[in-house]
Amino acid sequence: MSGAFLTDIKTLRKRAREHIAQGAVTPGYHADRDTVVKLLNEALATEIICVLRYRRHHFMAKGIHAEGVASEFLQHAQDEQGHADLIAARITQLGGAPDFSPDGLSTRSHAEYVEGESLEDMIKEDLIAERIAIDSYKEMILYLSDKDPTTRRMLEEILAKEEEHADDLANLLEGLGHR
Ligand SMILES: [Fe+2]
Ligand SMILES: [Fe+2]
Repeated sequence: MSGAFLTDIKTLRKRAREHIAQGAVTPGYHADRDTVVKLLNEALATEIICVLRYRRHHFMAKGIHAEGVASEFLQHAQDEQGHADLIAARITQLGGAPDFSPDGLSTRSHAEYVEGESLEDMIKEDLIAERIAIDSYKEMILYLSDKDPTTRRMLEEILAKEEEHADDLANLLEGLGHR
């Protein structure tokens, strides 16, 4: 197979040596790094807000003896924490700094922190937040396309998990109706 579209290996090695200080970001990185870091910091804020909301819901549901729903909320909180960690790690790989500041956290986040009164309210608010996360991850994936495949793949995996979460919540909501 001829590698007409591939950059020859000598050129690749030379370029890699030229920008050693930039770590994982090579001249072959075609995305706008500042924009990607900014988008990832918004996603990080979203995940942190989701961790906080799910943990609150976990303890509140436990308080009203809804054990099944409470443990689902805890599982989601742990998944969102995992997403936050993946995103923060990728931000540093790109030479950026993950923003964990509580100041303005809810403004940077796409999803909201809503406490919810009843169990049904909590599940509904979580479902809304998941749907917002799903839409924003889809948009980011489209934006990245083949400019930053590593970040894109990470976001695709997170997106799949958020879709699973939305599905879990829709089932919980349906279960409540049939009680
Ligand atoms: Fe998440
Ligand atoms: Fe989620």
